[in-house]
Amino acid sequence: MDPNDQAVSKITVPFLLDRKLRGERIVCLTAYDYPTARLVDEAGVDVLLVGDSLAQVVLGYDSTIPVTLDEMLHHLRAVRRAVRRALLVIDLPYGTYHASEFEALSAGIRALKDGAEGVKVEGGRKRAALIRRMVEAEIPVMGHIGLTPQSVHALGGYRVQGKTFESANDLIADAQAVEDAGAFAIVLEGIPRELAALVTARLRIPTIGIGAGPDCDGQILVLHDLLGLSFPAPAKFVRSYARTADVMAKAVSQYRQDVLAGRYPIDAESYHWPAGMREQFEKWTATAGLKDDD
Ligand code: KIV
Repeated sequence: MDPNDQAVSKITVPFLLDRKLRGERIVCLTAYDYPTARLVDEAGVDVLLVGDSLAQVVLGYDSTIPVTLDEMLHHLRAVRRAVRRALLVIDLPYGTYHASEFEALSAGIRALKDGAEGVKVEGGRKRAALIRRMVEAEIPVMGHIGLTPQSVHALGGYRVQGKTFESANDLIADAQAVEDAGAFAIVLEGIPRELAALVTARLRIPTIGIGAGPDCDGQILVLHDLLGLSFPAPAKFVRSYARTADVMAKAVSQYRQDVLAGRYPIDAESYHWPAGMREQFEKWTATAGLKDDD
C-alpha cells in the first residue's frame, strides 16, 4: 500500500508510525470549522489538528492561554462532522492538564468522546508521567516541545529554542522522554533545523515540524497562515500559498457597493409569484383578506 495514496481510506496512529519507517513524509494542518476541515480532509492532509491557535486565529484572543476546553470541543465537534480520512487530533488547552492527573484524563476522555482520535500536550520530561497515564487510558498522545506557546510567559516571549548546547541537550532529552512515555508523534516547534534533524534521526516516532526545518518526518502549519488569512505578520517559517484575506475583502466590498447602488439583487436572483397572482391577491385582500382592524 502506498502511504501517499489518497485512496487510503483512513489515517490511523499505526499508519503514521509506518510512514516514518518507510521514510514517507506526513502532512498536517490545523482546522477549526466544518468548511475548512472538509477542504483540508478532501485535499488529502494526513493529520488534522484542532489547535489551540484557535484562540488567536479564530477567536481573537492575543495568546493561546485564555481558550477553554469547552470552546475547543465546540470546534472539534464541527470539524469531526467534516473529517473522513485524516487522523483528528485536538490540543488540550492551557490549564486542562496542569493542575491534576484526574483533570487531565477527564479532559482527554471528553475530547475522545467528542470525536478526537488523539490529544496534543505541550512539554517534555515534565509531561512524561502524564503522557504514560493517558496512553494507559487508551488516549493516543502527540507531544509538543521547543517553542511551546502555552509557556509564552515562562519563556519570556515567542523565541526560538535550543540555540545553546544546554538547551539543545535538554530538548533531546525531552523528545526522548515523550517517546518513551508512549506518545505516537511529537511536534517540534521553533527550533534550529540542525537540532530537529538530530531529534528526528534519534526517535522512532514521527517528528512534525513547525519552524523546525525540512528534516522532520512531517510538517504542520496553521491553516490561516497558509491561506493568508491571519492578521499578524507571519513568522519566517510560514509560507502563505494564497492571499485569501484580499480575496475576501474584495468580495465583501463589491457586495457592499452593489447593495448601495441597487445592483444586488437583480430580478434573476429573486423568487416570483406565477403570472396573474398579484391581481388575484389584490382582489382577495379586498374581500376575504386582511381587514384594517385585524
Ligand atoms: O495550535 C496549533 O496550531 C499548534 C501548532 C503546532 C500548529 O499547536
